[in-house]
Formats: sequence, C-alpha cells, structure tokens
Amino acid sequence: MEKKNINWGELGFGYMPTDYRFISNWKDGKWDDGVLSTDPNVVISECAGVLQYAQTVFEGLKAYTTEDGRIVCFRPDLNADRLEASCKRLQMPVFPKDRFIEAVREVVKANAAYVPPFGSGATLYLRPYMFGSDAVIGVKPATEYQFRILCTPVGPYFKGGVKPLTVRISDLDRAAPKGTGNIKAGLNYAMSLYNIVDAHNCGFDENIYLDPGTRTKIEETGGANILFVTKDNKVLTPKSDSILPSITRRSLMYVAKEYLGLEVEEREIELAEIADFAECGLCGTAAVISPDGKIVDHGKEICFPAGMTEMGPVTKKLYDTLTGIQMGKLPAPEGWIEEIM
Ligand code: PLP
Ligand code: COI
Repeated sequence: MEKKNINWGELGFGYMPTDYRFISNWKDGKWDDGVLSTDPNVVISECAGVLQYAQTVFEGLKAYTTEDGRIVCFRPDLNADRLEASCKRLQMPVFPKDRFIEAVREVVKANAAYVPPFGSGATLYLRPYMFGSDAVIGVKPATEYQFRILCTPVGPYFKGGVKPLTVRISDLDRAAPKGTGNIKAGLNYAMSLYNIVDAHNCGFDENIYLDPGTRTKIEETGGANILFVTKDNKVLTPKSDSILPSITRRSLMYVAKEYLGLEVEEREIELAEIADFAECGLCGTAAVISPDGKIVDHGKEICFPAGMTEMGPVTKKLYDTLTGIQMGKLPAPEGWIEEIM
C-alpha cells in the first residue's frame, strides 16, 4: 500500500480529512450495521440534541506503524469501556465493545495510507464520537444517535514537541464535585476554551485545575492527566473522582512499576507540596507524556530541577518505554496491542 504524500515530520496536532470514516446510527432502539463513508460532512436536524443540549461524548486513541511495518492500535478496549461510562452518564445508548473494536479496525485499515511511517514522529489519531442527532426542544435525551470514528494523522500535541512546558494554576474549575469531570464529554472541553485561550494569551501552555471542592489539591490539565516524580524517584499521580481516568496514565503507572521497577502511588496531591517534586509530566493519548518544567501559581514560579531544556530522566524513561511498547520495539503486556494489519 502506497502512503499519502504527506510531510509527516512537519505535522502538528490538527485535522486533515482522510478517505474514510465509520458511521452507525441508533434508531428505534438499535444500532444499524454501520458503513465506511467518504463523506466528511454530518447532516442533522437544526434542533438536534447535540446542538441544543451538548449531548455528545468522544474518545481518542492512536494507530502506529511498528518497527517491522505492522499497523497496531493501543488498548482500544479501554476506550470502548470509557465511552460506555460516558454514554451512560449522558443518557446515551452504548455502542457495543466488540463492534467498537471492529469499527476501529475497519477505519484504520481503510485509511492505512494515512498511518504515518515508523520513526516519522507522527501517528494516526482516531476520534470515536457519538451525539444525539434528532430534534429535542424540552430538556431530555435525544431518541436517535450517531456514532462515528474519524481519523487524522497528527504530530505532537504541544508545539515544540518534547520541550518542557510552562503551565499555570487555573482560577477556574473544569469539573464540579459529583459532576462530569470523570467522563469524556464535549461539555467538559467547551467550558475550558475561554481558559485555554486566556492561558495562551498569558504565555502558558496549559491550565492545571485544582479540585473543585476545596481548590487545594492538584487534579489535571484541560487535555491531559498529570504525573509527578519525587526526589527519591517515586511516581505519583492525583487521586480524584473528578478527573478523566486516562488510559495513558494507567499504562504509564504500570510501566513505571513493572518495567522500570519504580514505586508508584495514586493519592491526593496538595498544591502546597509540589514544589518538593523533581519532575512533572502531562500525559494522555495526544500528549503522550509531555514534560512540564514550570508551574506558575499566581506569580509564584515552581521550577522543577529537570529544567526547561529537556525531559527529566524518569519522564524520559517513561516516554521511551511507553512509545517503545506502542511501536513494537519492546514487548507489550498481554492485551495492550491490537494488531490491525
Ligand atoms: N484528561 C483529559 C481532560 C483529556 O482530555 C485526556 C485525553 O484523552 C486525558 C486526560 C488523557 O486520557 P487518555 O490517556 O485516555 O487519552
Ligand atoms: C486525547 O488525548 O485523546 C484527547 O482527547 C485530548 C484532547 C485535548 C486532544
């Protein structure tokens, strides 16, 4: 199969339509068989549930070319599980896990020419999503839904690739106690747009949100979870019911313990203690693990000893090991790699 003529190394994290996307519709209480379509446009009612009351959820995962030329995906079963949790919270029908994985496989195969080559620094990002597609005017769930998977080749999520980031402690909240912070719903991102634009305007790469109940504990950023490394090389990550349960974070915690032999802990992390830590990283499908060199808390700068020029040593080992597993250079734990072709 001939690859598309794309300058893979120059790609940022942007959208480019590819040849095929998967579409399935829920109507009269069931999903149809689903099709691959060449049409990138969606046509829905002007009064669709998604347009009026933001009834939409999504996922993000990637396809990779391995060193020996296979195309694989990373833990799509966990995306299916999380989509199920998101759907249930927003009163939407569940797209069955086996069909989700099959649809991922179909989309990747159909767009194989867009899967960036091994070593290019780029990957194929898949965006499964679902929305209420028929008209609602009173506040209630839609009765018809569309599930789609689009894909687009992407480079690094943060400009500058692996250069350490500067993030600020946010004054706004992304989640409420007992709210929807733990699901992947568009509404959690709509409310973050003002804040991310403001952060960029003020010279910061991202916002760190604090726990919405007490505003004393670290939660996550607008698009990634957070890991810290202590001065004695322990990997810590915040425990909270209002952060998105990141698949990358779960994988990195496993890698830290089982591959790197490090102590790991998920616990509440006070804002007041982070100045003592050695390294900080933002982790997610898009972010992989991006080093954070500096956190600014209302003018007070917390500078991690790893500095602003390169990744800290533990962050680098985590990055190399995780991407090594994803790209087939290192053996993967059972069930982590879905071989597509
Ligand atoms: N937190 C938020 C708010 C996100 O948008 C993402 C991205 O998916 C993550 C965390 C990381 O989750 P995952 O590692 O499953 O991609
Ligand atoms: C992902 O990492 O898949 C996400 O959805 C994050 C998003 C902010 C791009």
